Amino acid sequence: MPDETLTIIDNRTGREYTLPVTHGTIHATDLRQVGVVDGDGGLMSYDPAFLNTASCRSAITYIDGDAGILRYRGYPIEQLAEEASFLETAYLLLEGELPTALQLEDFEQTIRSHTYVHTNVQKFLEGFRYDAHPMGMLLGAVGALSTFYPDAKQIGDLESRRLQRVRLLAKLPTIAAFVFRHSRGLPYVLPRNDLGYIANFVNMTFEIGGGHEPNEVLQRALEILLILHADHEQNCSASAVRGVGSSQVDPFSAVSAGIAALYGPLHGGANEAVLRMLDEIGDVRGVPAFIEEVKAGHGRLMGFGHRVYKSYDPRAKLIKRVADDVFAQTGLNPKLEIALELERIALEDDYFVERKLYPNVDFYSGLIYQAMGYPTDYFTVLFAVGRLPGWIAQWEEMLADPEQKIARPRQVYVGEAERPYVSLAQRS
Ligand code: ACO
Repeated sequence: MPDETLTIIDNRTGREYTLPVTHGTIHATDLRQVGVVDGDGGLMSYDPAFLNTASCRSAITYIDGDAGILRYRGYPIEQLAEEASFLETAYLLLEGELPTALQLEDFEQTIRSHTYVHTNVQKFLEGFRYDAHPMGMLLGAVGALSTFYPDAKQIGDLESRRLQRVRLLAKLPTIAAFVFRHSRGLPYVLPRNDLGYIANFVNMTFEIGGGHEPNEVLQRALEILLILHADHEQNCSASAVRGVGSSQVDPFSAVSAGIAALYGPLHGGANEAVLRMLDEIGDVRGVPAFIEEVKAGHGRLMGFGHRVYKSYDPRAKLIKRVADDVFAQTGLNPKLEIALELERIALEDDYFVERKLYPNVDFYSGLIYQAMGYPTDYFTVLFAVGRLPGWIAQWEEMLADPEQKIARPRQVYVGEAERPYVSLAQRS
């Protein structure tokens, strides 16, 4: 028995139990011994939405929500945002260490050689309606990739997993760009492998007739945003990827489940919701009334609050700096004034202070994406491109973890007890 233990007295039976405490947790399955009569299965822990349940041990991302700390593999997010490239960050998340110059070059080159998608993927995308939501198209197309690469089912084979990682990282920007073009009725622009990861993506979205002029400041700003989104430990979409992946399905299907989770307005869809909220407020004079509505329980202040951060989201701080660089290039986004005023009032207001509600990563990112020329319904696609390395790293960590099995929570049944079937004619 380790030194750190927890003693439980079950007042129902008077029995005492000593459970080991490891890494500040007890094993929920240890509660099974805490039973009243033989065979009753013992105690379960009840934790809807996993508010206080660790579902895995992870060595990928560290968050201290109270102190506003975020680190990938031990490296502070601020330093990565300042110094690293997106692919360097992806390598770090996937391999656990920063690449050497040679390793990075090799990784970039390998990704470059996988950027094309099968032409049937284009045909598949053409089947969507002109007004299909980009996230719906993205999750459908990524799920469909599994049919193009049946070898991806070999999830126990390291070399195969490496190949799928590369395919996903290389092809997601291509599909994301095709989705963008589809929404606009523009012909798809094929990948240009003489360009870097970000430059190629931007070119595939904005190039028309040779007229796109790359702006390095905006490209670096986009790269920083992708780095800031690259992982965030056991969030809703990473948990979806892990949960679905635990059935041993291929990574394309698991990642498409992650995209579906990210689509929701309480997760990645919040950046889109922020912009819609700013549109609804319309003018800085409308801010106090809007705050009062939120406090009265009519809707939420989107882009505020976080399950883990109970102080300023460190990513939101960095994003504010990126916003300055971007707006210096593009001119001020008029909605920024409304956002700043919302933040100013909310940070002083007891309702938000008491609940520790601060701006999260999505509060300013949408304004930046809009200034870059991306439409509101496309913001979450950019988030997905950024989050992909995290999803893959979480998926592979789950597969390698001998403690993991197929994810299958328990429930507390509160429905009817057994009752006889009533035939249709006899029902009133
Ligand atoms: N506006 C107003 N009130 C809020 C907000 C908000 N944005 N967020 C939380 N609250 C209030 C709740 O009403 C609740 O108040 P109560 O105690 O009086 O009932 C209290 O704060 C706690 O809220 P919970 O919903 O219990 O917090 P939870 O941790 O479950 O939710 C979440 C976190 C979903 C992010 C929430 O803060 C929210 O809905 N925010 C707006 C959506 C958003 O910005 N999502 C992006 C998150 S970041 C990301 O996914 C990339």
